[in-house]
Amino acid sequence: MTAQAEIAAGYALEGTAIELGAVLVDATVEPTAHVRIPLSMINRHGLVAGATGTGKTKTLQLIAEQLSNAGVPVLMADVKGDLSGLSQQGASSDRITTRAGETGDDWQATAFPVQFLSIGTGGIGVPLRATITSFGPILLSKVLGLNDTQESTLGLIFHWADSRGLPLLDTKDLRAVITHLTSDEGKEDLKGIGGVASATAGVILRALVNLEAQGGDRFFGEPELDPNDLMRNKDGKGLISLLEIGDLQSNPALFSTFLMWLLAELFETLPEEGDLDKPKLVFFFDEAHLVFADASKAFLEKITQTVKLIRSKGVGIFFCTQLPTDVPNEVLSQLGARVQHALRAFTPDDQKALARTVKTYPTTPHYDLEKALTSLGIGEAVITVLSEKGAPTPVAWTRLRAPRSLMDTIGTDAIKQAAASSDLNGKYGETVDRESAYEQLMQKVAPPRQEGEAPPQEQPKPEKDEPGLVEKVLGNSAVKSFLRSAGSALAREITRGIFGTSRKRR
Ligand SMILES: Nc1ncnc2c1ncn2[C@@H]1O[C@H](COP(=O)(O)OP(=O)(O)OP(=O)(O)O)[C@@H](O)[C@H]1O
Ligand SMILES: [Mg+2]
Repeated sequence: MTAQAEIAAGYALEGTAIELGAVLVDATVEPTAHVRIPLSMINRHGLVAGATGTGKTKTLQLIAEQLSNAGVPVLMADVKGDLSGLSQQGASSDRITTRAGETGDDWQATAFPVQFLSIGTGGIGVPLRATITSFGPILLSKVLGLNDTQESTLGLIFHWADSRGLPLLDTKDLRAVITHLTSDEGKEDLKGIGGVASATAGVILRALVNLEAQGGDRFFGEPELDPNDLMRNKDGKGLISLLEIGDLQSNPALFSTFLMWLLAELFETLPEEGDLDKPKLVFFFDEAHLVFADASKAFLEKITQTVKLIRSKGVGIFFCTQLPTDVPNEVLSQLGARVQHALRAFTPDDQKALARTVKTYPTTPHYDLEKALTSLGIGEAVITVLSEKGAPTPVAWTRLRAPRSLMDTIGTDAIKQAAASSDLNGKYGETVDRESAYEQLMQKVAPPRQEGEAPPQEQPKPEKDEPGLVEKVLGNSAVKSFLRSAGSALAREITRGIFGTSRKRR
């Protein structure tokens, strides 16, 4: 048996698989030696890593196409807008034909159902939003770049609003609450929650103003995304949702925390599943280093916990980043599939990352991994996944198949057009008027109290008419009406689950 066949034997399976490519040993590729991920193991997550230009995005495209074919919906964070080509047939070429031959692929140009989404209203896709209340204090702290003290203060502020069943739709609402709590009228309320130093409150307020300046106010609000809209099929294929960052480049943390929010939402709403033949949804976190950079310990713990638990809900996550060392070890150890494209070894830091990466692979008699990882060609990767039985497969230097859709962007105008004619545009295209949104959210997170239920322990004090800090800072009547409804709301307490996001009553 050839070395290629020996390695491929470890990838034999009974069920359906995502075909990745063919094994290479000593620079010889064997088209019949297939490297693949069992569809039933996609919910054990994965990592796609590699230096710039080595083929990471094309690998994601390849995996997404086959998931879609298998009827699995996919959500991809498309930070650089590289993946829009999924919506169009690929162009055949000599290079494609050669690669297809080398990888045992009956390549046919294919287009896939795609919906284009943006974070907030400043992008070219259908705008997605979430409310401040739904986001909760942990995720918002990450977005605002707060330190631990400030984070716990924000937690107290949310607790105050939550315990009154008071939903905060947008950044203005949160500003109103903070200014209320630090004003003379709010003193009594403040006592009840254990104290918020006005200096700390000031820092949070400034961070909020910054966030608004960076476009945060075009993201927080209603209508909030219903995650079910990402879990659809079209013509028997899984719908691929491409999420772009819109005009929020200056706040990439908002992008990554939005994805974490979505995971938390899915976690809260999806039922527990046994072992499934195929996942219900697969997430691709491009530029995953943004998720982990500057993350607090609490935040990291939550991510690790979510990654561990979401798998039993049938959701798979693929992280994509340049260096595998961008992903903390606790998370890395949760990722069943490794697709490692070429690494550079220029600097001492590169060398260290390389050595650490080698250690995360099973031992292999076929390759010198340190050498292999630095000599992989473009569109090649060192791969190990979990077999159908859950054991690591042999390490395989793999030439990857070519995507069947277009390996290029379709351009801004085409994306805008597709978004405008999308069925989601009617639902999310326009920001909902503040007043009605407020009513809606009250119904969702804090329906009116039933007869016989105990009232909240204390009611917020009615707002006084003399101008306080609130008006000074905001100077508008929206704040007044907001706080008035706060006072009159006989609402249920808002409860929070994993990640501090609000529990929905669906
Ligand atoms: N599987 C593949 N089949 C055919 N061509 C490929 C494949 N993978 C990569 N290529 C070629 O290599 C180029 C770069 O790949 P890709 O854009 O995926 O790199 P990347 O690692 O995502 O880079 P960056 O870090 O800059 O985003 C592609 O435009 C394509 O020409
Ligand atoms: Mg890329």
